[in-house]
Amino acid sequence: MTYQKKDYPVSAVRRFLEPGPVVLISTQWKTKTNIMTMAWQTVLEFSPSLVGLMISGANHTFHMLKQSRGCVINIPTEDMIDKIIDIGTSTGSEIDKFEAFGLTATASELIDAPSIAECYANFECKLYDDVMVDRYNFFIMEVVKAKVAASPKYPKTVHYRGNGIFMHSGKNVFHSEKLRNM
Ligand SMILES: Cc1cc2nc3c(=O)[nH]c(=O)nc-3n(C[C@H](O)[C@H](O)[C@H](O)COP(=O)(O)O)c2cc1C
Repeated sequence: MTYQKKDYPVSAVRRFLEPGPVVLISTQWKTKTNIMTMAWQTVLEFSPSLVGLMISGANHTFHMLKQSRGCVINIPTEDMIDKIIDIGTSTGSEIDKFEAFGLTATASELIDAPSIAECYANFECKLYDDVMVDRYNFFIMEVVKAKVAASPKYPKTVHYRGNGIFMHSGKNVFHSEKLRNM
């Protein structure tokens, strides 16, 4: 099968390239904590476990992370969609988002930033390389500690397509023995 195609704005191709789950980034600097919603994260390496985060310099989180050099990548599930949106449309420079959105900050093991108890998984990260921070707002983080709920095996995550549209994770289908350990 082939498709009839038309020109598409290059600035919008992200809508077809964002399969990863929306995550909540929690940070702490001195006594202040914060959370932001993010869709632009990408896996960079297995071991060390590297993840790239694109955090706009306009966000309070950018400045907190630049100072603290640590954060938690929290994986929320679809039942948290209203909080995901509220956290992504408000700023920690004005409010305490843990308090405003009724989330529980629990102590992380290896970094100062708190983990979000209501999230399915918490990945504690340390800044691994800041080479692209000033130029591209891109933080290369190393996951140094991971905690994941025992069940369900496949959480119902949400994936952002832009324009207010979220894709909710669906069927999980085993397709190939060839990919067993990949
Ligand atoms: C679904 C969704 C995805 C988002 N993804 C990102 C992202 O990948 N990077 C980013 O810098 N901001 C992203 N944002 C915007 C921030 O979450 C938003 O600017 C937030 O207010 C920043 O909070 P802060 O100022 O407390 O850091 C996203 C927002 C939403 C709702």
